[in-house]
Amino acid sequence: MTSEFETYFQNIYSDRWTKLREALINPKSKYILKINQFAKNQDIQDNDNNFNLENKIPELKFCYQLTNTIAPPARKSANGLFNYYLMDLASILAIKSLDIKTTDVVLDMCAAPGGKTLCIVDDLFDENFFKKTDETIQLVANEFSNNRRMRLIRNLKNYIPIELINHKIKIKGADASKWCLIPDEQNKYDKILLDAPCSSEGHLLKQSFKQSFKQSFKQRSPIAEWKISRSKYLSKMQYSMLCSALSSLKIGGKIAYCTCSISPLENDLLIEKLVNDRRRKERFKILNISNQTDQSSSLTSIISSVAENTRYGKIFLPDYSGWGPLFIAVLERTI
Ligand SMILES: C[S@@+](CC[C@H](N)C(=O)[O-])C[C@H]1O[C@@H](n2cnc3c(N)ncnc32)[C@H](O)[C@@H]1O
Repeated sequence: MTSEFETYFQNIYSDRWTKLREALINPKSKYILKINQFAKNQDIQDNDNNFNLENKIPELKFCYQLTNTIAPPARKSANGLFNYYLMDLASILAIKSLDIKTTDVVLDMCAAPGGKTLCIVDDLFDENFFKKTDETIQLVANEFSNNRRMRLIRNLKNYIPIELINHKIKIKGADASKWCLIPDEQNKYDKILLDAPCSSEGHLLKQSFKQSFKQSFKQRSPIAEWKISRSKYLSKMQYSMLCSALSSLKIGGKIAYCTCSISPLENDLLIEKLVNDRRRKERFKILNISNQTDQSSSLTSIISSVAENTRYGKIFLPDYSGWGPLFIAVLERTI
């Protein structure tokens, strides 16, 4: 019997669904190896060939593309920080779409385990932060789940100098959907990343695929359990988070809203709901991600070559470019 999941996504993606489904279960082995600028990395920078790095990406600082290669395990460098981390290109471009400046104050609303937080840190701080004497917090990384927040802290400590964590970064554990109710958190941030909790269908498909080999008949697979009501529930929560983010942004500030869902309910239709919301539609405009002010034209062309346009943003799908899945929409607060 065809599951509710299959019927739903077959209707949305029609002829493309079989290929997309296969690419979600068996993604191409492609990563971006991002060198940690805070580690003492002489070994990597001097001898790229040791790492089988096929492609340095000149438009993206410290980034190399690895294809069909297993990266050697990250190592602690001389100052105790790990030398690199692996990222999906779509995640790196999501952060680039915020066009972060070193003077910005940034909120990462749903931060664990922290891959995108590290990319924010990379754009927000350079080695000059050691010379700065002010102690203004420039990055707030929030995660609601206690366990995941602990993991976030561990990851940040593995990659970021402790002085920077102590003086410039604050970790919080609030509910992102109620963020704007926290005193003094309104009109405060230049940039906000809302990488929202979502249906993660790619993850569900992989789990179900693995389970099918274990032949555990007692356990129903996540795909068999899937209901559209779950995506509807999540989209309500995502909407509250997005509205909260909008109120926490300074006028002129930007939000990157992302999910790894392939469901329009959690992506374009959510942005559409905001566009049609009488109380909020005057307060923001939607930006064209390929057209961000200071982005170099080569960066713009990378985004255009790997992402597809949606009505309000971009989507990276693995059957198209081998990256993602990730949906991104960028909003700017206008009043
Ligand atoms: C998509 S993941 C974030 C991934 C992260 N940005 C990264 O790149 O590593 C979404 C996160 O939101 C957290 N979360 C779920 N509900 C939340 C809430 N109400 N407020 C804040 N965080 C929440 C989840 O625990 C999860 O860690």
